[in-house]
Amino acid sequence: MNLTQLGKYELLEELGSGGYGTVYRARDTVLEVVRAVKVLHPALVADRQFIERFTREARYAARLKHAHIVPVYDLGENEGRFFLAMEYLPGGSLNDMITRQGSLPFGRAVEILGQVAGALDYIHAQGLVHRDIKPGNILFDESGQAAVSDMGFAKALSGGSSSLSTSGGMIGTPSYMAPEVWRGKEITPATDVYSLACVFFEMITGQVLFEGDSPPEVMTKHMLDGPQFPQHWPEGVPDRMEVILKQALAIEQSKRISSPGEFTRMMNSLNASYKTKQPIIYQAHQGVGEGQQVKGKFNKQQKPDTIPEQDSIGNNSSKPMNIPY
Ligand SMILES: Nc1ncnc2c1ncn2[C@@H]1O[C@H](COP(=O)(O)OP(=O)(O)O)[C@@H](O)[C@H]1O
Ligand SMILES: [Mg+2]
Repeated sequence: MNLTQLGKYELLEELGSGGYGTVYRARDTVLEVVRAVKVLHPALVADRQFIERFTREARYAARLKHAHIVPVYDLGENEGRFFLAMEYLPGGSLNDMITRQGSLPFGRAVEILGQVAGALDYIHAQGLVHRDIKPGNILFDESGQAAVSDMGFAKALSGGSSSLSTSGGMIGTPSYMAPEVWRGKEITPATDVYSLACVFFEMITGQVLFEGDSPPEVMTKHMLDGPQFPQHWPEGVPDRMEVILKQALAIEQSKRISSPGEFTRMMNSLNASYKTKQPIIYQAHQGVGEGQQVKGKFNKQQKPDTIPEQDSIGNNSSKPMNIPY
């Protein structure tokens, strides 16, 4: 049956379908605004326990207020259909972006990482864990700002209370699921760090890090094999990146980078130091005649006006800056 109306929402077009339901671009006919409406799969609606948990989690999601979290506006039931109305993000998902253009430039990947990490640090500070961080749950607005969606779905499926220490079932999307999720062990903010690291790898390579023909095959890769990195990273990816990525993907949570913010800070410092390694033409302002080109100490083709931080304070610019690990 073609669904065109759901209570006050006029469904305009189908945007996509995922594990929990089908998402439509919709018009709220009372407020006269466009929203995204997710209509839950009938099988989930039949599970009243799921609906109860989901309602509880959606209430948490509705209270969250962050520039990089997709706002939830409404939750309802209409003629047996259960739906969630949220902000409509016209820029598509990170999954669409990677499918369309393949890998992203390192700087852009770090920028998206920072926005998503900000949202995750905020969620963690509220005592919540997202549990289903993946490219399909990172959406973009018209100006390319990223926002995290689907807060609470994974939690609602796993059952249990909202406490961070609750051990959940096998919830999430296999390619991005941390080893502790497969094992049914304690879920912590580091669980989201692991998934975020899988997403980061995908942004910079255009490839899914943990892939297989079946969930057990993917599970083996997460739990026993660990990440397999390419011999050569794409142009523009700093060498030391791999060390940080490995720490974010540690099988043991205790050895993993513990927060998304910390993971971003490490990648950011790498990005900053990498930039200073780019060849430059330096037109000095300080102590050198205006417009005079200075060679030797500075690399060759960096934009004029850009003073390489480390050289200016006498350090060796060929070494990455203080990477805290
Ligand atoms: N708030 C939204 N605004 C715009 N598009 C959305 C929104 N939420 C979801 N979508 C689109 O619908 C698709 C399906 O979403 P979803 O059911 O959550 O599945 P998944 O997260 O597995 O991709 C997403 O990939 C995205 O393209
Ligand atoms: Mg989703």
